[in-house]
Parts: sequence; C-alpha cells; structure tokens
Amino acid sequence: MAKDISYEEYSRQFLEQLPRGAFLTVQEGERLNTMTIGWGNIGYIWKMPVLTVMVRYSRHTHGLIEKAADFSVCLPAPGEMRKALAIAGSVSGRDVDKFKAAGVTPQPARTIQSPVIKECNLFFECRTVFRQAMDANLLDDTVRGNSYSSLDFHVMYYGQITACYRNDQEERETSGTTAKVPVLSS
Ligand SMILES: Cc1cc2nc3c(=O)[nH]c(=O)nc-3n(C[C@H](O)[C@H](O)[C@H](O)COP(=O)(O)O)c2cc1C
Repeated sequence: MAKDISYEEYSRQFLEQLPRGAFLTVQEGERLNTMTIGWGNIGYIWKMPVLTVMVRYSRHTHGLIEKAADFSVCLPAPGEMRKALAIAGSVSGRDVDKFKAAGVTPQPARTIQSPVIKECNLFFECRTVFRQAMDANLLDDTVRGNSYSSLDFHVMYYGQITACYRNDQEERETSGTTAKVPVLSS
C-alpha cells in the first residue's frame, strides 16, 4: 500500500534523488511518454506546494506537456532503476515506446490523467498551473555558456502538487515490481 506523505517529508528525498534522475511522465489525449529529468524545483508559492520541471524544446515530451493538463514526477529508491533512467534519458518517445524500452510500467495516478511509474519509490502528481519560456536576455552569461550553447532552451512547467506518496521497499519487492538493475558506468 502506498503511503501518503506530508509536504515537509518529501523535499529531502526529492532533492537527493533528482540529480541522479527521475521520470517525468506526461499523457496528452492518447499520447503518452516518459523522460528522465535531473533538474527541478520544489517549493511553496501561490499558497500551495509546487514542483517545477524544465523541458527543452527539442524533447518529444515538450510537445506533450505543452498541451497536457498535468504531469507526474516519480523517483526511484536510492541506487535503483539506473538502467531505466539511462534509457529514458537517451532515447526519444518519437522513435520508440519508452515504457517497453526502459522496462517501466505506467500505472493510473490518483488525481491526474498522466500516469505514474509503478516501479518507483516516491510519487508526485502535479497539475500544471504555469508555463514559462526562458528569456535568454535575462540569463546569466556563465549559465548560458554552460547550459545553452546549442540555444536549446528549457521551458519551465510549474505543477501544483495534488498528491504525494511513497512505496516502501518491502512492498515493491514482495509485489515483484522492483526493477533493480546493474549500475551503468557514466
Ligand atoms: C540524468 C538525466 C537528466 C536529464 N534531465 C533533463 C531535464 O531536466 N530536462 C530536459 O529537457 N532533458 C533532460 N534530460 C535529457 C532527456 O531525458 C532526453 O533528451 C530524452 O531522450 C528526451 O526524451 P523525449 O524525446 O522522449 O522527450 C536528462 C537526461 C538524463 C540522462
């Protein structure tokens, strides 16, 4: 049984795991995709908990999230699902069914249309409340040089967190859904 957790509890695990990779999953009508993200924010604005993700224009996901009402962000337990994250972060949903390629399972979410990734440990369901394109003229030169030399900028999507819950390790193992895979060299 997935456990609901409070706003105060989730941010630490989110920030620890995010740089190692999380799954951003979006459903728009019949179109469904997941991709690995490594950057994002979690905070409290507009009187509510908000999670922000950053998606470059070149991503297949960009076309979906632009039209979708919501998205999910799902984080593996520490050290798990590295191969799946590497696949979801290197091939495009334009070319392949990434759920099959990465061996992950979309599972209905509780509060949004976009599904969550069943094999993960920490789940955020988010309703998009703001979209923000980057204005390159407002960007620090060093950041621009380091992250945008190809001019493939991000769009930021701010999601009201409508549900947040966690699966514990024991349950995922006994239910046979744990996707523990060997560590990939970088
Ligand atoms: C660890 C990791 C973190 C990543 N973080 C992001 C990110 O925050 N934003 C982004 O646009 N792409 C990010 N990527 C790249 C996308 O996941 C990658 O380009 C993916 O193939 C896009 O899939 P899509 O074309 O199906 O949307 C990341 C990749 C990896 C491996």
